[in-house]
Order: sequence, then C-alpha cells, then structure tokens
Amino acid sequence: MHDTWRMGFHLMPPTGWLNDPNGLCQFRGTYHVFHQYSPDWPAPGAARGWGHFVSDDLVRWRHLGIAVAPDTPDEASGSYSGCAVVLRGAAPDGDDLMRLYYTGNVKEPGDHDYVRTGRRSTQILIESADGVALGEKRALLRTGDYPAFCTRHVRDPKVWREDGSWWMLLGARDIDDRGLVLRLRSDDGVAWEYAGDARPREPLGYMWECPDRVALDGREWLSACPQGLQSLPWAHGIRDHAGYLPVPAGKKLAGTGELVLDGGSLRLWDHGFDFYAPQTFVDESGRTLLIGWMGMPEAPYESAPDGLSWCHCLTVPREITAGADGALLQRPARELETLRGAAHKLTDGDELRLGEHRADVVAHGAGGPLELALDGALRVTCADGAVRLSFSDDAVGVGRTERTVRTGAVRDLRVLVDSSAVEVYANDGAAVLSTRWFPRADALDVALSGDVRATVWEMGDGMAGTY
Ligand code: FRU
Repeated sequence: MHDTWRMGFHLMPPTGWLNDPNGLCQFRGTYHVFHQYSPDWPAPGAARGWGHFVSDDLVRWRHLGIAVAPDTPDEASGSYSGCAVVLRGAAPDGDDLMRLYYTGNVKEPGDHDYVRTGRRSTQILIESADGVALGEKRALLRTGDYPAFCTRHVRDPKVWREDGSWWMLLGARDIDDRGLVLRLRSDDGVAWEYAGDARPREPLGYMWECPDRVALDGREWLSACPQGLQSLPWAHGIRDHAGYLPVPAGKKLAGTGELVLDGGSLRLWDHGFDFYAPQTFVDESGRTLLIGWMGMPEAPYESAPDGLSWCHCLTVPREITAGADGALLQRPARELETLRGAAHKLTDGDELRLGEHRADVVAHGAGGPLELALDGALRVTCADGAVRLSFSDDAVGVGRTERTVRTGAVRDLRVLVDSSAVEVYANDGAAVLSTRWFPRADALDVALSGDVRATVWEMGDGMAGTY
C-alpha cells in the first residue's frame, strides 16, 4: 500500500471510512473534532458511528477511537451527523458541560423507498462532563414529532443558544421533494417545539443536509448542503453541494414562522473537487472556525485508489470572517503556521524539490497570469480573473479533471499541500478550492511561473504518533 498518502495536518481515519465533521467545539480548553466513522470499511454495510479527535492547538491531534457507537435501537442503521454545544458552568463540578446532539438513523426491513416509508430519524442527546466519557443517550424527537409536510429524511441537528432560548436547525426533505431546514425552539435544550421552517423561494434541490448557522458582525448566514443540483449549469454534474445563503436583513434564524431565502444567492463554500458537510463553531477566543469533509457523496472520482485501508479526510480548520460583499472569507487557522519549517523563496521560472510531500505556499502576484505546478501533475493557474485547478495526469487525479472559480485579479494565493490533500485559497480566502490527489512521489516538486514572488515553507508532521 502506498502510505505516503497519509497526512501531516489533515484529520483522517487511522483505518476505515470518515465523512462529515461532527460535534466541533472547544471544551474546557481542548478542541474536539468528532466525525462520521466506519472503522470496518470497506466491509459491506460497515456500521457508522462517531470517531473522536482531540487537540490543544488545532495542529497536533490524538484520535480516541469510537465515541458514539450505533448501539441502541434508535440508531440501528447509523449514528448520523450532529453538533456540540458547551453549557457554561453546568457540570456537576461547576465547570462546563458538553452536549452532543445527533441523528439516529434506522432503515426498517421491508419493501420501502426509504424516503416516504421505511426510515426513522431520532434526534438524540448525550452529555459529557469531561468531553471523553459520554453519558446515556436520550431520544428527544422522533419521526412523529416533525411537521406532516416532511418525508422521513430529517437529520443533522445544529443547536445554539440565543436570547434565552435554545434553537435547533434540522435538514429536511418535504413531500414535494424540496429541500429545507426546520427550526425548533426549546427552553432547556431537551424539550423542543417546532417553530417554523427556512426554505428558498424557488426549490433548490430535493433535500438539505447538514444545516449550520454563521453569525458575524451582526449578520447571519445559513449554511446547508442541497442535494439534487446536478443539472444546474455550474454543478459539473455533481449531485450535492455545500454553500451558504444570507439571512435577509431584519430576519433571524432564531425565529418563528416561515423564513424565505433567496436560493439564487447561494455561494459555494469551496470550488474544488472534494468538499462537503462543513460545520462551524465559535472557539473560546471568539473565532468562528469551519471544518469540512474533504470528500463527496456519490462523486464520480476515486478517493481510495490501490485498496487503501482508509478513505477521506477533513479540511484544515478555517477561520471565517465576513467579507465586504456578503461573502464569507476563509483562511487556514493561524496555528498551522507553527508547523512551518525551512522557507524557500521562489520567483518566475524557479523549481524546487522538497524533502517531504508537505508545503505551505504563499504567493503574491502583480495581477497578471501566474501558475504553480505541483509534481508536474496538478496546476493552480491564475489568469483572466479566475483561479483554475487542473490535473494533467489522470493517474494522479483519478477522475478529477478541472475546476475554475471567478475571482477577479488574483492578489494573493495560498496553497497547502499535505501528501494527498491540497487546499487553495485566493484573495484573502474569498475563493477556495480543495482537492484530493494521489501522487506517487515521496517528495514534492513545486514550479512557479509568472510575475510573482512566493515563499514555500516545508511543513512538519502534526500527526506524528497519531496513526
Ligand atoms: C452528509 C450525510 C448526513 C448524514 C451523514 C451520514 O454527508 O449524509 O446528512 O447525517 O452524512 O453519514
């Protein structure tokens, strides 16, 4: 097995399958990243629960194995995605209490379409006083508790506290096959009542997964993952996408009644090949951080070539800030800079071979065309007011071809390379493109051209000893 594809600063499963980030929080100082996890993958029907990483600094992580196992009748077909909230001073020792909310998924045997019949979704709560030992599971909401206009697809709770109430968002598919978000309210975070929905004026996909709320500078955005967009002109035939919508001025997600959104204002979080199901949280310093799954459901390209014993990874943590025009800016968490080692300066025509297959590249251009080539197989091209990611080697891209995002003149570019993961950030994080790739070389080749100056840092291995 070609294991140089293991990563130094992206979270990946030790073995088995990983998808959505779950339960993101900073709790009693420690960062917690739970994730969808099927340790027995690729065994058919491998059970899906939550895995668990912890870190003091967002860079050096420990994997604690399975945190939530699908071991009750309410989650017989999987402990699906959900979130964490931190209750200040609510633990028996007077310190903070962690609450995890997630969806128990059950597919009943029989002749079902699993949309209108044959599926149960239960919203489940677990508390923890130390963030590691999890208490008993309490079922809070069951299939009969959702509005009658919902199909059986209701999942992925996102919970927060605002104005003395607890609020929950749930992703849903209605009986007309339109995606939407349910809003619920609670006094105690345990007993919930339906408060209204949030949906686009015109239908946008048949189901919305993994809703999330971003609140910055007095404004709000709804993040969601609409499914069924493959025939839209910009969708590259890809069924599911992750994006965000502004909440109209004067409205709030924490509210009752129907909240109508402008689906046409959906902006994609990421324009690369591998990004889905992002989740945000606010850390103890007040930063809004986002982590996404660097994978896609039903993607037509490969993410475990050569029979790898693990599949998929998460993005690095990204700091989210509000841009001037309603866009959200994403920048790699500043802690990643602590992994930087030797620095190399590059300019037009320079080529560099690094000792490892990890790098942090920061380039400043004059607005003209520039190109960064990685291993001669993956090109990041800034030209004609756009950033393009293109594979010139099919074996390395394994089905990935080309993606472009319009940016206007590119002033700055940052590229994180971590063995089989690449994240590209342009114009202060206004545009991001993420991709997996599967280069065979153990050392990274970087080549630069154009009117540009770049610094290439070698990057350390934050995961040494983790796997
Ligand atoms: C998104 C998703 C969620 C679900 C989970 C199951 O990728 O489909 O809606 O909770 O993955 O693993």
